[in-house]
Amino acid sequence: MEAIDKQLTFYNEGTRAWIQDDVEGFVSGTVVSNQVAGDSCTLVFEVEGRDEPFSVTIKKGEANINEKLPPLRNPPVLEGVDDLTLLSHLNEPEVLHNVRLRYSQEQIYTYSGIVLIALNPFQRLPIYTHDIMRAYSGKRRGELEPHLFAVAEEAYRNMLREKKNQSIIVSGESGAGKTQSAKYIMRYFASVDELDQPFDGDADIDAGGMSEVEEAVLATNPIMEAFGNAKTTRNDNSSRFGKYIEIQFHKDETTGRVKICGAKTRTYLLERSRLVFQPKTERNYHIFYQLCSGCPAAERKELGITTFDQYYYLKQGGEGTIPNVDDVEEFEITQRALSAIGISVNLQWAIFKVCAALLHIGNIEVKESRNGDAQINSSDEALEIASRLLGIKPMEFSKWMVKKQIHARTETIVTNLKKYDAVVSRDSVAKFIYSLLFDWLVKMINKNLAVDETKYSADSISFIGVLDIYGFEHFKNNSFEQFCINYANEKLQQEFNRHVFKLEQDEYVAEKIEWSFIDFNDNQPCIDMIENRLGILSLLDEESRLPSGSDESLVQKLYTNFEKHQFFKKPRFARSDFTIAHYALDVTYQIDGFIEKNKDTVSDELLNLLQNSESEFIRELTTLPKPKEDTPPPPTRPGFKAKSKNNKNTLGSIFKASLIELMNTIRSTDSHYIRCIKPNQAKVAFEFEPQMVLSQLRACGVLETIRISCAGYPTRWTFQEFVERYYLLVNSQHWKFDDPREFSLNIVKLLISDKDKYQVGETKIFFRAGMLAYFEKLRTERLRQCVVLVQKNARRFIYHRRYNETKEAALFVQNAIRRKVAELKCREIRETQASITIQKYARGYIARKTYLQQRESAIAIQSQIRGYIARKQLQQLRRDNAAIKIQKVFRGQRERHKYQDARKNIIFVQSCIRRIFAQKTYTQLKIEAKSITHIKKLNYQLENKVFELSQSLAQKENETKEYAQKIETMESQIKIWKEKFDRLDTRYKDSTEQASEGNAEQLREISELKEAKANLEATVEKLKADNKKSIAERDERIAELERQLEKQREENSNQLNEINTRRGQADDNSAQVAQMKREIASLKDQLQKAISGKDYLYDADERVGRSTSVSRVRGRSSNRNRSRIPSVDTRTAMLNVVDRPIRQLSRVRNESVEVKTEAPAATDAPVNEQTKEQETQSLEDECSLKILEDESLEQEIIDGLIMNLKIPLPNSTQKIERKDILFPAHIIGTCMLKLMKHGLLARLQTLSSKVIAAIQNVALRFEDDYISCFWLSNTYELSCVVETIRTKEASRSRSRYRMESDGNKVLIKILNDLDNLLVRLYYGWMKELKKRLAVMAVPAIIEYQALPSFICKKNGGLWNKIKAPQNQYTIDHLLFLLSKISKVLICFYVEESIARQILCELIRLLGVTAFNHLIMRKNFCTWKRGMQIQYNLSKLEEWCDEHQIPEGALHLERLLQAAKLLQLNKSSPRDIEIIFDICFLLNPSQIKKFLSLYYPVDFENPVSPELLKSVSFRTISENNDTLLLDMDDVEFDKPPLRTVDKIDTSGMPAWADLFLIKCLLELN
Ligand SMILES: Nc1ncnc2c1ncn2[C@@H]1O[C@H](COP(=O)(O)OP(=O)(O)OP(=O)(O)O)[C@@H](O)[C@H]1O
Ligand SMILES: [Mg+2]
Repeated sequence: MEAIDKQLTFYNEGTRAWIQDDVEGFVSGTVVSNQVAGDSCTLVFEVEGRDEPFSVTIKKGEANINEKLPPLRNPPVLEGVDDLTLLSHLNEPEVLHNVRLRYSQEQIYTYSGIVLIALNPFQRLPIYTHDIMRAYSGKRRGELEPHLFAVAEEAYRNMLREKKNQSIIVSGESGAGKTQSAKYIMRYFASVDELDQPFDGDADIDAGGMSEVEEAVLATNPIMEAFGNAKTTRNDNSSRFGKYIEIQFHKDETTGRVKICGAKTRTYLLERSRLVFQPKTERNYHIFYQLCSGCPAAERKELGITTFDQYYYLKQGGEGTIPNVDDVEEFEITQRALSAIGISVNLQWAIFKVCAALLHIGNIEVKESRNGDAQINSSDEALEIASRLLGIKPMEFSKWMVKKQIHARTETIVTNLKKYDAVVSRDSVAKFIYSLLFDWLVKMINKNLAVDETKYSADSISFIGVLDIYGFEHFKNNSFEQFCINYANEKLQQEFNRHVFKLEQDEYVAEKIEWSFIDFNDNQPCIDMIENRLGILSLLDEESRLPSGSDESLVQKLYTNFEKHQFFKKPRFARSDFTIAHYALDVTYQIDGFIEKNKDTVSDELLNLLQNSESEFIRELTTLPKPKEDTPPPPTRPGFKAKSKNNKNTLGSIFKASLIELMNTIRSTDSHYIRCIKPNQAKVAFEFEPQMVLSQLRACGVLETIRISCAGYPTRWTFQEFVERYYLLVNSQHWKFDDPREFSLNIVKLLISDKDKYQVGETKIFFRAGMLAYFEKLRTERLRQCVVLVQKNARRFIYHRRYNETKEAALFVQNAIRRKVAELKCREIRETQASITIQKYARGYIARKTYLQQRESAIAIQSQIRGYIARKQLQQLRRDNAAIKIQKVFRGQRERHKYQDARKNIIFVQSCIRRIFAQKTYTQLKIEAKSITHIKKLNYQLENKVFELSQSLAQKENETKEYAQKIETMESQIKIWKEKFDRLDTRYKDSTEQASEGNAEQLREISELKEAKANLEATVEKLKADNKKSIAERDERIAELERQLEKQREENSNQLNEINTRRGQADDNSAQVAQMKREIASLKDQLQKAISGKDYLYDADERVGRSTSVSRVRGRSSNRNRSRIPSVDTRTAMLNVVDRPIRQLSRVRNESVEVKTEAPAATDAPVNEQTKEQETQSLEDECSLKILEDESLEQEIIDGLIMNLKIPLPNSTQKIERKDILFPAHIIGTCMLKLMKHGLLARLQTLSSKVIAAIQNVALRFEDDYISCFWLSNTYELSCVVETIRTKEASRSRSRYRMESDGNKVLIKILNDLDNLLVRLYYGWMKELKKRLAVMAVPAIIEYQALPSFICKKNGGLWNKIKAPQNQYTIDHLLFLLSKISKVLICFYVEESIARQILCELIRLLGVTAFNHLIMRKNFCTWKRGMQIQYNLSKLEEWCDEHQIPEGALHLERLLQAAKLLQLNKSSPRDIEIIFDICFLLNPSQIKKFLSLYYPVDFENPVSPELLKSVSFRTISENNDTLLLDMDDVEFDKPPLRTVDKIDTSGMPAWADLFLIKCLLELN
């Protein structure tokens, strides 16, 4: 009961388990009750999809409890894991369920320990592209999703690392995808070397990145398929032979690259019977149908080929075509493949001829003669053509088909065959020839592809073998073929089991785990039964060699020999069947045909006939030493000897030998296993037939390995991982993270009582099967408890808060109400108060008003009364006053009158008295006045008159005196005048006498003169006449000349036109002209020498002196760095070249200066100056020419400006000027311009090509970013300069010659070269930068976690056992590198559009690399990771914004959307809609991939299969299935060349020792 209890602890209510089902294999059930009654226990399960519950009852003491109890189901988090060994409950239904779940999510690959299980998708999947190969390259298995390429990669790396050969064994039943898988693996190997070189040029290997050998190796596939594959009911392209191809790799010691160098193929057991017979709906080998469809008309006639339905050998299946396969196209592919492996077209046609012959052989009609013997018509057309094609005689051929020759001891007897035997004989010839042809092809392939191992050192060559061999087969009728196949599988399975077992054991030993030997189904006895000395095969061979041997006797022998053998069963009823208990299944074989098939012979006569064929090819085929014959006997089985009676080996023994050899090979290599599984019979995409898969899983040994591993300790955790996941199962007092081993032990001890359930190794802790689920259960429970606790507290907190809130709210309401009431009361009081106050004032007002009225009326009355009284008094007063006034006036009047009268009287008296006195005085005075005054007046007048008269008298006297004086002077003057007159008079008289004498002579002279004058006038007259005449003449002449001029003008214009038309022709002569110019220049030089011979001598002397001194100086340094600086000789030569002309030039210049200063004095100064200038010009030209013609100039440019140039490095303090960066381009450009000017086109061309070569030499090494960037910038600048020169030249030449000049052509060529250089520089540098950035992309963007609160485990998922080596790059490192690149671009003035392109491309690379990695990365997609990635991207985007490259950020958009996708909810269809909306840049395949990769963290539910299915549906409808982003380089978009306004040669650094260039630049 205890045992039952122990078992049943797992089956408590709610536990999920698997219940057997006939259709589905297993269905899920949940325990609903678990009842113990007495000795038995009953479990009741509710079963999904069934109405009835399922129950099991277990009794005490029952032996096979385990078998009765339904197997347990894993927790959801373990479902869909990519390695079956990670399953905690590891049982058949779990394996099936897991595989099925993954297949439904379109994940066709799953690991099961070392094995890769591959389910055939029956649909093209986007997971075999070159990008995916690249993604898997260099990755460890387990780092990414399971894939064929991961296995291939592992094999490849193992081979490199351990220098050991590898083999990949691909097996599975027909149509499971073995051949496809093998082809993908081969393709991977063909490009693996390419993948190892990141960004190596042509990324698309499909488009020709492969070497010839690699292509040839791949070409073996179509050949082998054409001749060895056929359509069967199970597979349209079924391989009817087994194949082991050793792909040979050679390590080139110098480059370290490992490349495919050849291949060696071995084939096993081609199905010959197919050639002569095909079951319904099946076909013969493809090649025949290809030949029938694709044979060109001419050959068709020669081979007598028509349509397939004309041939008996092709039409038996009734099917001539395969859907979606075009035989014509396939025929071409086959032909191309044959050519690729080096089979000439002639030979190809020889092969096809044999094929055609076989078809005709099939059509040879065997008739029955009257006596029952077989006979063939000699006129049979088919016989004729077949014989012709085989080069044999038809008569002979038909004879030996219907006759047999038996060799008795002394004689030979020829007997006739029956019709049936003749047909067998005919068919066996065909089969024999076809098998020879097939072997010959394999031989040819090996001959042409296998490396000659003697040519290479042994350890530089290694191989990876890929075995594509039929899997275990069992049909209703199983024949000899199935027997062989199953025998092979038995052997392979044994090897596989041993391998798995050994690996297990190795791990246990390494971890020092106590471990008892696990029993596994060893099938050695079964193998022994087949291949031992007295085994089935030996009996078969023995029987085959007996002339009387038959199938019946053979089966009897088997019965007697193996009756008691544990692996042999004799069916109860059948007489000709026997059953072998194979490891996978019991298979019953029908003995019919064993002997015949094993013998597989053709009669000696027919063989002879063929060996003596006229056709060389047939002779070659038939004399082929059969490859199997020289297979050595297996070394491990010394007892076995290839017995070769009659020199013919039986098929069985050949097969056995080759199989043993194969096993030896496999044993000597490290093996990798791929098990292909065919998920449904109907070949429908993503349909899953559980029973079928289950039987294949059994047959391929996957379940067996699982059983082996379950018998031990299948669950293994490193201590660290274990602690990290399960620390929470124990109390925190036990936590001891610094010693994980101790801590793990503690956990285990506390939780597991049964010590057998675990073992502690060196680095890992091992658990029995189911323990993981147990831990998971505990963990889930613990987490549940924790969750409950957290929930409890959270709820308490919430309710507490809610209570507080309610309380606060109530208080608040109360408060508000109270306030309201108080407010109302207060208002009332206030209103009362207010009304009283109003009343108060109103009353006061009224009272005051009445009082005032009363007062007023009182006052009014008072005033009236008082007024009246006052007025009365006033009247009285007035009356009194008036009386007084009257009195006053009257009294005054009276007094006044009195006074006035008195005064008048007084005055009258006074005046009368005064008048009397006055009259008396007056009369007296009057008398006195009349006497005295009159006399006085007269006196005064007289006196005045006297005075006046005396004055005028004095004046008259003075005047008289003056007149007298004047008269005196006048008289003296008259005297003088009289004397003078006398003198003159005498003189006059003398002169008149003289005059009369001279007059006659003068008259004569005058007459003479007059005569002369007359003469002269005459001559003048004459001359005038002459003049007139000549003027007239001249006028005439002028007129004529004008006419001539006019005429001339006309002519000129005509000529001008003519010249214009001829100008074009003149262009052609420009080279001549340039040549002549040069000649002229040299002549001038000579002339100059002749003229200034003395100067020259002097110069020469001086030059010698100087050059020797120079050479002395140089001599010292040159010894040291001869390679850098031109040698002494060249330097001297250089100096010689330029020295003299420059000297002359400077002298001429000086002279001209002197002349200028003296100019005012000299009359011919201007003329002189002009000539001097011309001279200077010509001398400068001459100098330039000299320099340009000198080869040292090129040397100097190459050495000084390119090879040994110190590139100005940017520093933080000082900005480098544009001219300091671009000077080499400008200087070189200037030199080119000068060469162009002087017409030195040839030199221009050599200079440019040397410059380009030198730049390539320096810059294409890409060791230093500064150098690369500097030359990138300069190359572009140089292109611009050359373009500028070209435009000028073009416009100049066009205006002159109206056509392209030679110079222009040369410049265009140079531009092209520069263009190429620029492109190479760009791509080369980009490649280098990309290499550096690509390494950083994943660690910095995907792996680096900047947000501390959302750290996910380094390796993502819980189940990922492999730790990838971590590069510690952070996003800051990445940004630092980007900033550095950006800075270099700016500092070196790289053209903006180029710089922008470079940065954009780099960012695109980052985005794409990171995206492609994320989408392939296993268990990496968690929401936390999404956040981290988004954060990293945001930093990158910020950087883009800062550097003004918004388009860069666009390249990150896809990754950003992927990061968002990870963070979004994924539980309902609505969520999926949202995801599709938000992630609009991702295609449905990518979204689906992310969803299926999504790894739920604790408490998140896995994305449900239904949702994934709905997404899959979209993928089909959208038809866009590229998973990875395009890694190819974006094409370099070259910016258009701009014109350089000014060629700036000023930036030449001072240290540059460039003598000639400096001279050249100085000359204008
Ligand atoms: N990985 C795959 N992706 C897509 N289709 C596949 C894949 N593997 C197999 N198939 C499909 O299945 C078919 C059968 O595959 P294949 O010829 O490789 O089977 P096989 O195992 O070699 O069978 P046989 O033993 O008959 O040769 C292929 O023609 C192809 O259509
Ligand atoms: Mg195949």
